Amino acid sequence: MGRLPFKNRRQENKKAARKPPDAWEEDRRGIDAFATGILQDIARERPLNDPYAALRLLRQSFVPVRRDVVEIKAARADDSLFAIRFARLKESIEGGLPPLPETVARRCALIADTYLGNNEEFPRRGADVAWHFAVSSSNMIKSRVLAAAVRFMRPTRCLEIGTAYGLSAAIIAFAQQRVVPEGRLLTIEIGEIQHRLSAALLAELFGDRIECCRGATQAVLASAVMRMAPVDFVFHDGGHSGEAYVRDFGNMVDALAPGAVVVFDDIRWQNRFAPGTESRCYEGWREVAAHPRIEAAIEVGTALGMVMLA
Ligand SMILES: C[S@@+](CC[C@H](N)C(=O)[O-])C[C@H]1O[C@@H](n2cnc3c(N)ncnc32)[C@H](O)[C@@H]1O
Repeated sequence: MGRLPFKNRRQENKKAARKPPDAWEEDRRGIDAFATGILQDIARERPLNDPYAALRLLRQSFVPVRRDVVEIKAARADDSLFAIRFARLKESIEGGLPPLPETVARRCALIADTYLGNNEEFPRRGADVAWHFAVSSSNMIKSRVLAAAVRFMRPTRCLEIGTAYGLSAAIIAFAQQRVVPEGRLLTIEIGEIQHRLSAALLAELFGDRIECCRGATQAVLASAVMRMAPVDFVFHDGGHSGEAYVRDFGNMVDALAPGAVVVFDDIRWQNRFAPGTESRCYEGWREVAAHPRIEAAIEVGTALGMVMLA
């Protein structure tokens, strides 16, 4: 099918935004068949460790989906390029998240499946890497929010806190490659096993476009961001507590560029391994959102907080 003229595409997007969720059912069935086809293709290349997980991940990469957006701090009526880009990003999250490109979805399915076959011991949780990868990595819907943020904001210098196994770093870097090919990403991880495995994977995929730093943010963040400054995009996904959000934001705010976007994951997170403890993530998120350098702040679904800097 040829490309739709731009005007018609816009009308299509508006129509999609108005469709009730069940009107997407037919589209979903088509996407299921498409994802199954890719899965079968991959399975011809090599046996899969967890075909169901791979299929779920492929479906999530393409399925029509949108997220509610709640405005915590509204941007001033402003026609700066950053404000316009942020408004477009917000629209695309609410109206229908862009799917991941098929090549990216395939690579991510293969990366995930490789980890899901890794039985190296993960002693701290009495489990193995396969188990820990599954509980700690972002799903593909969250990945699509990240990819959309990078696509619309076009950041040159990106930072991630909490690499884990490198899945979200790969999503950010693939998205950045399409809009700012010379862009760079620095990602920070405290855990030895996660750092070792993700650094090898990300070096193979992106060479020296990605720097993997091992350490706790408390020790390494301030110097890392000063080295990179000005930073245009941050995904904060390590250290889930109100205290960590506020501390890490304080350590990076002077290095953030005007118009930079910071995404906080799991703003309502509770530690299921330490019942009874209070993470106070939400309080921390709201404290960050109230910082005077924050121009606009939104909540995306229940899990993500996103701010844009003045
Ligand atoms: C939820 S996982 C990250 C998932 C990853 N961003 C993804 O979506 O694929 C959180 C990671 O942050 C790391 N982490 C926790 N506290 C940290 C800290 N203070 N400094 C650096 N890394 C930290 C953990 O070891 C863990 O691997």
